[in-house]
Amino acid sequence: MSFKFPFFKNKQNIKDDHFASDNIPNHVAIIMDGNGRWAKKRGLPRIAGHKEGMDVVKKIVRAASKCNVKILTLYAFSTENWKRPKSEVEYLMKLPKEFLHIYLPEMMENNVRIETIGDFDALPDHTRKAVQYAKDQTKGNDGLLLNFALNYGSRFEIMRAVKQLMADIDSSELSMDTVDENTFSEYLYTKGLSDPDLLIRTSGEQRLSNFLLWQVAYSEFWFTDVLWPDFSEEIFKTALQDYQQRKRRYGGI
Ligand code: IPE
Ligand code: IPE
Ligand code: MG
Repeated sequence: MSFKFPFFKNKQNIKDDHFASDNIPNHVAIIMDGNGRWAKKRGLPRIAGHKEGMDVVKKIVRAASKCNVKILTLYAFSTENWKRPKSEVEYLMKLPKEFLHIYLPEMMENNVRIETIGDFDALPDHTRKAVQYAKDQTKGNDGLLLNFALNYGSRFEIMRAVKQLMADIDSSELSMDTVDENTFSEYLYTKGLSDPDLLIRTSGEQRLSNFLLWQVAYSEFWFTDVLWPDFSEEIFKTALQDYQQRKRRYGGI
């Protein structure tokens, strides 16, 4: 048997056969909140919570793949998070590189494709390079789409879409008469992605914090008091099972 470098292992889609396979949300979005409070409770610096949260990301990516979720969008850094102390922001900007350094081989093995939404160009060089590398490496994978919302803000996204759409109307690339909701969606970072079916927020806060305002118009919401570093595959499955029981009416009867 020859030695195989992890990158060249056969890709496989992992499966959870014990999980009811009907009515699985196609797209799950998560507001991963509570890292700071988790650390504070233990007398640790806030960044210790972010580090712990990183390992949970890996577990939930695996769980989502196993449950046959197709898209997992994770809110990792908002356009408002720049307001935090410089040292915390610097740490958060280093985390993607650290995460990918440890877990990219496993993502490759599990056929995960990595993408981002948000103002990518405004990220520090080192963050952008690490994430771009991961996007390039995984672009041929057709398993779970792992979509990081990085420097993402919904209002910024919508303003940007309006500006680009107006520019296209100005240059006659687009006619005002044909613009509808679908056209507008094409100008958002989430272009081509289905809307989230299920939105999860941890840490007890029940707000959107500028996350996917347009896209969650008809998403099912699921909140838990559990802080993100304590979130687990089991709790993720509880949310999925709850979703499976819901009746979505979209304004109908
Ligand atoms: C979520 O945890 C991670 C980011 C926003 C980057 P927080 O850092 O917001 O943790 P709390 O809400 O202060 O506990
Ligand atoms: C939302 O959490 C952003 C992320 C999880 C990345 P915040 O902690 O920034 O949200 P607020 O400030 O409590 O609304
Ligand atoms: Mg928070």
